[in-house]
Amino acid sequence: MPHLFEPYTLKAATLRNRIVVSPMCQYMARDGVANDWHRVHYASLARGGAGLVIVEATAVSPEGRITWGDLGLWNEAQAQALEPIVASIKEAGAVPGIQIGHAGRKASANRPWEGDDHIPEGQPNAWTTIAPSPLAFGGGLPRVPREMTLDDIARVQNDTVQTAIRARDLGFEWLELHMAHGYLAQNFFSPHSNQRGDRYGGSAENRARFLLETLVAVRKVWPEDRPLAVRLGVVEFDGNEAMLDEATSLLQHMKREGLDFVDVSIGFNTPKASIPWGPNFMAPIAQEVRQATGLPGTTSWYISKPAEADALVREDKIDLVTLGRPLLADPHWPYRAAKELGVDNPAWATLPAPYAHWLARYR
Ligand SMILES: Cc1cc2nc3c(=O)[nH]c(=O)nc-3n(C[C@H](O)[C@H](O)[C@H](O)COP(=O)(O)O)c2cc1C
Repeated sequence: MPHLFEPYTLKAATLRNRIVVSPMCQYMARDGVANDWHRVHYASLARGGAGLVIVEATAVSPEGRITWGDLGLWNEAQAQALEPIVASIKEAGAVPGIQIGHAGRKASANRPWEGDDHIPEGQPNAWTTIAPSPLAFGGGLPRVPREMTLDDIARVQNDTVQTAIRARDLGFEWLELHMAHGYLAQNFFSPHSNQRGDRYGGSAENRARFLLETLVAVRKVWPEDRPLAVRLGVVEFDGNEAMLDEATSLLQHMKREGLDFVDVSIGFNTPKASIPWGPNFMAPIAQEVRQATGLPGTTSWYISKPAEADALVREDKIDLVTLGRPLLADPHWPYRAAKELGVDNPAWATLPAPYAHWLARYR
């Protein structure tokens, strides 16, 4: 029976355990370029013992950033700055992954601790947002995006492909397309933000088209032996009962087109959702999606206790356990979990020698 500390292989990627560092924007980049902050952050997460470290949402174009502090991968300078990060993740024994995406109508925002709201239009540091339809998110994100033309759609898809090529050439071994959380792909998928009359809007099939086409285009350049994942918001908790079925059909279709893995998440595409936050609350939904699609998958959201994380894997609810805030609180969560779960040599199972040597017999 698989458990939290059993290795996991998907295509050419072998994770030393089932713990994944969820992509988490640091909002600390300048012009999309990683710096010392990112180098220390990702090295410490990888040294903490996770099996897979997914670098934060990285924009495919300047307009696709959520804030001006987001990482980007649309040019060579950005690629070069990511090189030592990929190296340090590998050096620490984790698999390096990256999430790429476009923020759609949620772009051009202030950093979370500086307001988390749209930069007002007309301010020198604001930029024009784009989305399938000229509909604002609402709340603190009131800007009405410009409706994308067919050329815009083709351009963003091409930007995504170019970014995937850079990620491939950098040696990332796991690619996640960000199709969740109210950003551009989710904007296309949801009737809240997509009221187009062309082939990219209307029916569920049409609203899924941008996502599916993007996946197909990326699959052509992303090596066959490296896992290609999507993070998709499959539920919105807004009373739209059809969404989970629509998401499942899309994922089935994507699987036929070469999708390898799904990170089951939330839509966050309307401020009017009523989300039932609680420990492990997304796990049953992730299990349902895995069973309906046959795709291996994971989820996150309030998974924090080692025994519960272990049980989610043992009970076959999810293949991998994805953690965000617990790893910000303690990058060595995997070591602590290994100790709590009675793994043999927990220090050596999770930590590099300069830590493991001293902690192996330390109580
Ligand atoms: C600081 C921070 C930044 C985040 N940035 C991203 C991101 O770049 N991409 C993404 O898909 N989710 C992002 N999220 C969501 C996390 O990946 C994760 O799903 C969420 O925090 C729930 O997991 P947790 O309860 O273990 O924290 C972010 C969350 C936090 C706390």
